[in-house]
Amino acid sequence: MNLPESATLSQTRQYLKEKLTGIVPDTELALKADIAYEINKLKKEKNAVILGHNYMEPALFYSIPDHVGDSLGLARIAAQTHAERIVFCGVRFMAETAKILNPERMVLLPAEKAGCSLAASITAEDVRKLKKQYPGIPVVTYINTYADVKAETDVCCTSSNASDIVNKLESDSVICIPDEFLARNIARETGKNVIFPGQKPAGNDDMIIWDGRCEVHDQFTVEDVRNARKQFPDTVVVAHPECAPEVVAVADYSGSTTAMTRYVRESDARRFLILTECAMGDNIAAENPDKEMLRMCSVRCPHMNEITLEDTLKSLREDVHQIEVDEDVRLKAKRSLDRMLEMS
Ligand code: 13P
Ligand code: SF4
Repeated sequence: MNLPESATLSQTRQYLKEKLTGIVPDTELALKADIAYEINKLKKEKNAVILGHNYMEPALFYSIPDHVGDSLGLARIAAQTHAERIVFCGVRFMAETAKILNPERMVLLPAEKAGCSLAASITAEDVRKLKKQYPGIPVVTYINTYADVKAETDVCCTSSNASDIVNKLESDSVICIPDEFLARNIARETGKNVIFPGQKPAGNDDMIIWDGRCEVHDQFTVEDVRNARKQFPDTVVVAHPECAPEVVAVADYSGSTTAMTRYVRESDARRFLILTECAMGDNIAAENPDKEMLRMCSVRCPHMNEITLEDTLKSLREDVHQIEVDEDVRLKAKRSLDRMLEMS
């Protein structure tokens, strides 16, 4: 059962208690329920829709979003909403994507600093240089980038459709930016010649190289998987495609954050190692009380963790922080996003 739209304060408290006892301490839950109740009242008054990425902390994830999901699912919803305001409980590139796809809406990001190590790793100028080095080769850009980079791109992709999109392109060679690991995972799945950051062909000293990795998924190792399986031989390992290819290769399943959640829900197994941001392990655990989630909570996304219930309330009250995108850049970036939505 979900939290009803017009839940009273006591229903909100009761709902979060039932859903999250054992995952979030009781005192914290009571405080958070009060803030969630205020947000849900205000969101109706201000005609806002709240989108929550799967990485949001459990009390937020289960109380205020009208929709939760992965980058692709939330981008689709953002493109179609008629609400006056979109409050994006996620990171900046996600909120910016919403603005690119639906510019008439006011898009709010509750924490100004919520960035992403992948999005920060590449500039539009890097892409222009890369296109000069590899003329005619299509550029597939991960959605975890900013608008000016998307504007230089042929087609965007997300973790849920990357291999599918690369497969659908006629070219045998494809440039995949900016995530080295995602690019190498796509290469393994599609068998195509994937040009990715960090690659330096012999004799090409001018080639630009940058450190395109997710600071969270970069930390998971094959050793982590071995240790979990040694302790609990029945562990099913689920890894996000931003993990190193060696890690994905030893996992039982790899997919987007929503696909990982669905996999656990539909599996008959009882114990899982979740190789992604730890809060998502909490959210899956709350939905599957009969299953055990092993998660590595020392590995957190500092950007996703910037988004709190307190800041979301402030964001709605004061209409901060509004996302703006230069119109020329927006129109070019929208082409690569539209192409992705058409192809997937
Ligand atoms: P998803 O599209 O799978 O939700 O991934 C987004 C992300 O930033 C993962 O680190
Ligand atoms: Fe970016 Fe990694 Fe955080 Fe996802 S988990 S938002 S890719 S830094």
